[in-house]
Amino acid sequence: MKRILVTGSTGTLGRPVAELLTSLGHDVRGLSRRPGAAHQGDLVTGAGLDAALDGVDTVVHCASDTRRQGRTDLPGTRNLLDAAARAGHPHVIFVSIVGVDRIPFPYYRIKLEVEGLIATYGGTIQRATQFHEFALGGARIAARLPLVPAPDVPVQPISTRDVAARIAALVDNPVPGRAEDLGGPEVLRAPDLFRSYLDRIGSRRRVVPVRLPGAAFRAFRNGEHLTPAHRSDGERWSDFLGGTPVRR
Ligand SMILES: NC(=O)c1ccc[n+]([C@@H]2O[C@H](COP(=O)([O-])OP(=O)(O)OC[C@H]3O[C@@H](n4cnc5c(N)ncnc54)[C@H](OP(=O)(O)O)[C@@H]3O)[C@@H](O)[C@H]2O)c1
Repeated sequence: MKRILVTGSTGTLGRPVAELLTSLGHDVRGLSRRPGAAHQGDLVTGAGLDAALDGVDTVVHCASDTRRQGRTDLPGTRNLLDAAARAGHPHVIFVSIVGVDRIPFPYYRIKLEVEGLIATYGGTIQRATQFHEFALGGARIAARLPLVPAPDVPVQPISTRDVAARIAALVDNPVPGRAEDLGGPEVLRAPDLFRSYLDRIGSRRRVVPVRLPGAAFRAFRNGEHLTPAHRSDGERWSDFLGGTPVRR
């Protein structure tokens, strides 16, 4: 049994990570800025970090300023790692994204810099492909339009539970540096994925594949965010969609 701090434990990935690690018998602390959280803390101000890290063996770093393209991720991670060093240098596992070094996308550039901080600290970097929930979010937004635009790119969506399982394995057997990338079980085209969502909600709207300009989207078109050689054997998109409550 290890004492583990999960940053971003209220988020899409952090929640299943904290649940799985708890179910495996670990003593899990979830860090959140929310008032009333058992371990309230803010990575940007540093408030609450020393208390949250006290006696911790492992940190799973899932927090990210995702709504603002990672704007505070670098200072926030610096604060986390400084506090971790003060707390006796626990093992740190950081969740990153496949292709951050190959796709010139602003959020990815920041993730790559954060990976550098983690490497210098001596932690583990786990890159994953896009989560099912992320793909679903994109489909839901696009589906509001009469003609449903879908980026004409491949995707390899993965279940957050499968990413959580990989993290649990890394908690038990730490890997220095970059762990093997982890991708979903299949590569799909985003327009087909959007079509399946529309079918699921009973919408007959037409999907329009869209070719977006720029170097970042060229890289997405070329599949630089995929890792077909590292497919999980976990939940497929269709199974995720089938188990998702129908909500527009
Ligand atoms: N989405 C994808 O498809 C995907 C794919 C591969 C990897 N990833 C990576 O996986 C990680 C998790 O992504 P996600 O989609 O689960 O994110 P998310 O749902 O947006 O959750 C972000 C979390 O970060 C926390 N947070 C943000 N700023 C904070 C701060 N200043 N102090 C403390 N906590 C803070 C939030 O906690 P509170 O609001 O409760 O404080 C929240 O729990 C990210 O690093 C992301 O880049 C994502």
